Amino acid sequence: MRSLRTGLSLASLATGVAMLGALLFTAPAAHAADPPLRDLADAKSKVIGTAVTGSKLTGTYGEIAGREFNSLTPGNAMKWGSVEPTRGSFNWAEADQIVDFAEAHGQQVRGHTLVWHSQNPGWLTNGTWTSAQLSQLLNDHIALEVGRYKGRLAAWDVVNEPFNEDGTYRQTLWYNGLGVDYIAQALTAARAADPAARLYINDYNVEGVNAKSTALYNLVRSLQERGVPIDGVGLQAHLIVGQVPSSVQQNIQRFADLGLDVAITELDIRMQLPADSAKLTQQAADYRAVMNACVAVARCTGVTVWGFTDSDSWIPDTFPGQGAATPYDENYAPKPAYHAIAESLGGGGSRPTDGCTATYSVGSQWNTGFTGQVRIACSGAALSSWKVGWTFGAGQQITQAWNASCTQSGAAVTCSNASYNGTVPDGGSVTFGFNGSWSGSNPVPTITLG
Ligand code: XIL
Repeated sequence: MRSLRTGLSLASLATGVAMLGALLFTAPAAHAADPPLRDLADAKSKVIGTAVTGSKLTGTYGEIAGREFNSLTPGNAMKWGSVEPTRGSFNWAEADQIVDFAEAHGQQVRGHTLVWHSQNPGWLTNGTWTSAQLSQLLNDHIALEVGRYKGRLAAWDVVNEPFNEDGTYRQTLWYNGLGVDYIAQALTAARAADPAARLYINDYNVEGVNAKSTALYNLVRSLQERGVPIDGVGLQAHLIVGQVPSSVQQNIQRFADLGLDVAITELDIRMQLPADSAKLTQQAADYRAVMNACVAVARCTGVTVWGFTDSDSWIPDTFPGQGAATPYDENYAPKPAYHAIAESLGGGGSRPTDGCTATYSVGSQWNTGFTGQVRIACSGAALSSWKVGWTFGAGQQITQAWNASCTQSGAAVTCSNASYNGTVPDGGSVTFGFNGSWSGSNPVPTITLG
């Protein structure tokens, strides 16, 4: 990441500057800065969480993870295959790192996950076990892992994905070896190892009222009747743009009515690539719908997104051709979905939304360099600070900026106001400029304000 100092520069204006006709791109509806999502969520006593990858928790990724979220879920680091790749030989490094990061940033941790059919170590899945041995393995694993983080985790996804789509039990190592009681056994072991952690069963395609969520409902009711420890259900919410079930709030409510907590644990909303503004607008509406359903039910503890940036999402690998499923794009620019989350958490009430625009233009251009200008103008709205971003499409590089503080990382540029020009009054505008280098072509990028 290069930092470019603010300040007027007359350097590098080569002779023979050619004035070009104004090349303009105006950003659509603009958004001024909201408070971080976690502040909005805290004010509503809700969780806004994200899955994270431990090795990425530095730089911009770490800054956003720490600033915007009040809860972290390790995306993979606590899975059995990660922590015990070889029998009896443990690797806690990434899990420890995430828990330490969370504590340093005043965040909760959601443990994920103890008992699952997937991402288990080869020695476990390839072994031949009697039910007594399986039972011992399960108890020991839970005692060790839950015990290691005792008192430090808010919740555990104890059992993950136990159901088929039709509501029958998934045939897994655990179900086949121990019967349905593997679920009660796992919950009981987890409670013994950390009485303070909230214990969940977590699954996907259980967001709306359907056969699978009804099977989950019947399971948790029977566990409660038997006195098995169960505190909540996790609705993963790996959704598709335009396909949020209409019964999400009703479904959350029926679990809440059992005296259970409900958490949206893995929200992402994927689309066929490439993304375009119509899909991103629909995605924002979909994020808002899920958020609103949780905000509306007191016992819905909150929402965790399964990765906050499109550069750290499992979707493109798992669903070829699909992606753009998270609230930030690959360059860490917040998408419309981010603003929808903020608004659902009560942000945006006093901020101007529509009414300010950012316009990028190339002023002059010569053999290797050019001068660019960005104008931020408001009408019917005003800003007290501003930030714009764009991604260069042809390898352009900013060399110097004035009247703004700009950073460029790869192709991604972010510029924010200088100390003296954050205010854009209603009916007024602020302009800043920069010099850049180019070769081949110098296309005008799409600029976003907010
Ligand atoms: C995914 C991870 O995000 C990927 O990195 C990994 O390759 C596969 O698993 N349901 C879950 C999560 O409960 O653990 C999964 O996470 C996504 C689906």
